[in-house]
Amino acid sequence: MGRSVMSVSLLVLVCLVGSAAAQSAENVNAYKVYYMAEQYDWDMNAAHVYCADVNGSNSYEWRSKYYWTGFGDPNGPSGKAACGLCVNVTNTATGDQATVRIVATSNSGLDLDEPIFHKLDSDGQGEVRGHLVVDYKFVDCDPEPAGPSESNVTAYETDYAPIANNWTYPSHAACYAKDGGKPFEWRSKYGWTGYCGKEGTDPEHICGKCLKVTNKAPANVSEVTVRIMDTCGLGALELDLETGFKPIDPDRQGIHDGHLTVDYEFVNCGDELDSPLVYSQ
Ligand SMILES: *[C@@H]1O[C@H](CO)[C@@H](O)[C@H](O)[C@H]1NC(C)=O
Ligand SMILES: *[C@@H]1O[C@H](CO)[C@@H](O)[C@H](O)[C@H]1NC(C)=O
Ligand SMILES: *[C@@H]1O[C@H](CO)[C@@H](O)[C@H](O)[C@H]1NC(C)=O
Ligand SMILES: *[C@@H]1O[C@H](CO)[C@@H](O)[C@H](O)[C@H]1NC(C)=O
Ligand SMILES: *[C@@H]1O[C@H](CO)[C@@H](O)[C@H](O)[C@H]1NC(C)=O
Repeated sequence: MGRSVMSVSLLVLVCLVGSAAAQSAENVNAYKVYYMAEQYDWDMNAAHVYCADVNGSNSYEWRSKYYWTGFGDPNGPSGKAACGLCVNVTNTATGDQATVRIVATSNSGLDLDEPIFHKLDSDGQGEVRGHLVVDYKFVDCDPEPAGPSESNVTAYETDYAPIANNWTYPSHAACYAKDGGKPFEWRSKYGWTGYCGKEGTDPEHICGKCLKVTNKAPANVSEVTVRIMDTCGLGALELDLETGFKPIDPDRQGIHDGHLTVDYEFVNCGDELDSPLVYSQ
């Protein structure tokens, strides 16, 4: 009896240790490699990465969502079982973080594609030492968005001129009555947008909320967080030119076309963190 209880608890212990070890590890070396994902336009077959045969026919969106890494830490999954999984990596020296996708094996630790190695190495010491020392944990590659979201919607631009008018809400803005009197710090914390997406245009429902807007079209995917201060009629968003549109139009293709095609998701504005006034959103 005593023996079977003990073996059960041993088994539980082994499972706990096993799963904890598989989920994360500290102080692992991360080396710089040249998968050249961007140069190969995220084509896993052209880049000849180890996981190309199992994941290489996934969508472009999937292949380009994260920078690529090789994985060879003995605490985690090995071989093809690791292909396609995501790890969140933290440079222990600087705190820089990124999520990367496993596309290959590594002889030890992690092999980060050059651009993301560079991004994580903000103090340049990784380059000097020849590797970074990182903590990593396995994360969900496709976490549920925090709030409602839409993909591939049209975003037009409007000049709400917040900077010229010191972030005073225009009196014609649909959110003027509800939010126009809020403190300067609140009004100026994020760029502005008009909203007419699937959540509708009821000011009580949408005004003051924040959206993370992502433009995936350019080589460098770019995103901006904006606050809803108006409604609109066409498309889903009407981004303020300087504070919402231009920041995610690095190649000016949107200006050229007259609109952007973007994804957005409602996110927490974090207002309570830096304002003495708490607004129920
Ligand atoms: C990537 O390949 C691995 C190994 O075959 C497989 O387990 C995983 O489901 C694949 N992921 C996707 C999203 O295709
Ligand atoms: C992973 O890294 C990103 C930085 O790209 C960070 O913002 C995020 O909180 C991390 N995610 C998880 C699940 O740890
Ligand atoms: C958005 O557009 C991209 C590129 O055209 C496509 O791959 C993706 O499936 C679309 N997503 C949705 C949810 O329609
Ligand atoms: C903008 O408004 C804020 C808050 O009222 C004020 O502190 C600041 O001086 C103003 N800036 C300009 C350039 O007028
Ligand atoms: C993308 O970002 C990299 C690194 O920040 C930069 O060197 C490159 O010029 C950018 N490419 C474009 C097309 O903006």
